Amino acid sequence: MLVLGIETSCDETGIALYHAERGLLAHRLHSQVAIHAEYGGVVPELASRDHVRRLIPLIRRTMSDANAEAGDIDGIAYTAGPGLIGALLAGAAVARSLAWAWNIPAVPVHHMEGHLLAPMLEPDPPQFPFVALLVSGGHTQLIAVTGLGRYELLGESVDDAAGEAFDKSAKMMGLGYPGGPALSRLAEQGDPARFKFPRPMVDRPGMDFSFSGLKTHTLVTLQSTAGTQQDKADVARAFEDAVADTLFIKCRRALQATGLKNLVVAGGVSANRTIRAKLNGLAGHGGGRVYFARHEFCTDNGAMIAYAGCLRLQAGQQAPPIIEARARWPLTELAPP
Ligand code: KG4
Ligand code: ZN
Repeated sequence: MLVLGIETSCDETGIALYHAERGLLAHRLHSQVAIHAEYGGVVPELASRDHVRRLIPLIRRTMSDANAEAGDIDGIAYTAGPGLIGALLAGAAVARSLAWAWNIPAVPVHHMEGHLLAPMLEPDPPQFPFVALLVSGGHTQLIAVTGLGRYELLGESVDDAAGEAFDKSAKMMGLGYPGGPALSRLAEQGDPARFKFPRPMVDRPGMDFSFSGLKTHTLVTLQSTAGTQQDKADVARAFEDAVADTLFIKCRRALQATGLKNLVVAGGVSANRTIRAKLNGLAGHGGGRVYFARHEFCTDNGAMIAYAGCLRLQAGQQAPPIIEARARWPLTELAPP
């Protein structure tokens, strides 16, 4: 079974072709960073318009990379939410139209399910069950995953998502959009001993997160310095270490509470090197392992959507022939196919 994946939930057009037996055949990404950079963040209307412009040419090129023709494709998977509604609609409309024209099925895919399954695209993939930490621009969630579509929420952020806190803190430091990777690069030059940030909510039971206090801490600490490049790097380092430690503590708690051994870490923030190194420390916990996606599949991409859709289509999932797009869509509403 060959599946075309289409991802357009935010500021990246991602296209991929995943084959059930042969694996990932081709994938392409068009980033809108240049469009949104001058505004300091994603402008939804500009994002939608760019997806409309890019989708068909990118699909053509991805098909050509894989030497695939329309007749080779057995199904289409598209991101139906959560995300920016106009951006989602652009991808959903193209997916549905191609499915109709080619007379093949199309399935709506949950963006965070795509992230959660992305580490399975790697060699030696994780097997169900496992604990998943989803850390992206919009979500920070700990999930007990017992199978495809079997997701039990263990804890989540009560305010900002981890990625959002990275982006907002980066903005305070005068780093451009997208802020997370820039803050992380700056933190590499930072002195880990100069500032100590709190580890929010670790003294309370439970697996919820709160990152908005760290953001305020960043602002107050920055204002207490002269604002040199080194000051900013030191603050960035303290911020990043606080996020990494907090995630580590909550993941350890989730493994203990569920008795599960393996941890899967996914979403844009899982590309962060300090966080990866810290969470790798949970390997060996009860004999378990820690799994990540390769760097480029931590952030948004079409491969994870093609893969999630392929699993669902193979399991016989059918969807009504409507254009589905949901700005909000809790992961826990999903069901097995
Ligand atoms: O998963 P993603 O690409 O999109 C969403 O579904 O939200 O995640 C984007 C988020 C942004 O907040 C971005 O700043 C953050 O992931 N991010 C990082 C890094 N790379 C991306 N945060 C910290 N360190 C990184 N290296
Ligand atoms: Zn994402």
